[in-house]
Amino acid sequence: MTAEPGTRVIKPDAAGIAAAVRCLAAGGLAAFPTETVYGLGADAGNGEAIARLYAAKGRPRFNPLISHVAESSQARALGHFDDVAEKLAAAFWPGPLTLVVPKRAGCTVADLALAGLDTIALRMPAHPVARGLLAAFGKPVVAPSANRSGHVSPTDAAHVLADLRGRIDLVLDGGACPVGLESTIVAAFDRPKLLRPGGVPRGQIERVLGHALADAPIADDKPLAPGMLPSHYAPKAKLRLNADAVHPDEALLAFGPPVALKDGQPVRNLSPRGDLVEAAANLFSHLRALDASGAGAIAVMNVPNEGLGEAINDRLARAAAPKSESKRV
Ligand code: TXA
Ligand code: MG
Repeated sequence: MTAEPGTRVIKPDAAGIAAAVRCLAAGGLAAFPTETVYGLGADAGNGEAIARLYAAKGRPRFNPLISHVAESSQARALGHFDDVAEKLAAAFWPGPLTLVVPKRAGCTVADLALAGLDTIALRMPAHPVARGLLAAFGKPVVAPSANRSGHVSPTDAAHVLADLRGRIDLVLDGGACPVGLESTIVAAFDRPKLLRPGGVPRGQIERVLGHALADAPIADDKPLAPGMLPSHYAPKAKLRLNADAVHPDEALLAFGPPVALKDGQPVRNLSPRGDLVEAAANLFSHLRALDASGAGAIAVMNVPNEGLGEAINDRLARAAAPKSESKRV
């Protein structure tokens, strides 16, 4: 894999982590793998670096970023953890769960990254490369998914380069992301709410809490989690959901045994054996591959709405939303 001058692809060994730490400390932009998707990292305390990050992604400034930490003590210094937040952090960190909590007065994260909110989104990733980088840097790192705004999230280093080559300093290449879907986001104060379904299924969180999660009302003009806008994940091709047959001019995103195809018809299978964990890990790379096939439309077979299926169907519905509904964050 080659990058244009300006974006280095680096092996995530000790020397690679050290190079990424120097990059962050100098106000640079370093992409790195997490267990969910690749993140585009910047020093959370450096407002100028964060401004460059928004510019690289083409993301409007009002969209707040997740602060990533190596230790839960770092998270508690930035936000206020009530009993519910403590319980969820104890159960799911490190892992694919982001907690939104009230920010503390002494919070060192630049205002620009919080988009003027008085809450902060915090996450302690489990991926060894992410953990190595965060521990070596020693301070919080803001990291949105490392894609151009409005594109699907990157689940390998090649996806990051396809969107951001020449616009960021480096990518730590840690191979494919094992979960493949972004983190679940829960507002963990007052009555806990599910802001975004993701890598931790709702049922697991509800079991720990001992009650159902409220669904966050999402207003189009001022969404709580702006990444929840209808067509946030839109590919170029039109998506036709719950397809039980495929038209001759369509590509097919299959799940389980595929429907009949004509010769040469583009197809990717999320999981031939119908496994939702495997399907989540394949979702974004398969969408990218089918979009790149040039087909004008992608037929998508039904995916059951249980476990990780809720997050998969959420992303598919967004990818299928008409572009006219898009506010492109
Ligand atoms: O898995 C993930 O969460 C990945 C990896 C890199 O950690 N990150 C990620 O970041 O998906 P991003 O920026 O693409 O999505 C973060 C979402 C956005 O929809 C943002 O609006 C929401 O989190 N968010 C951030 N701070 C928030 C807050 N205080 N209240 C509500 N939503 C917030
Ligand atoms: Mg994103």
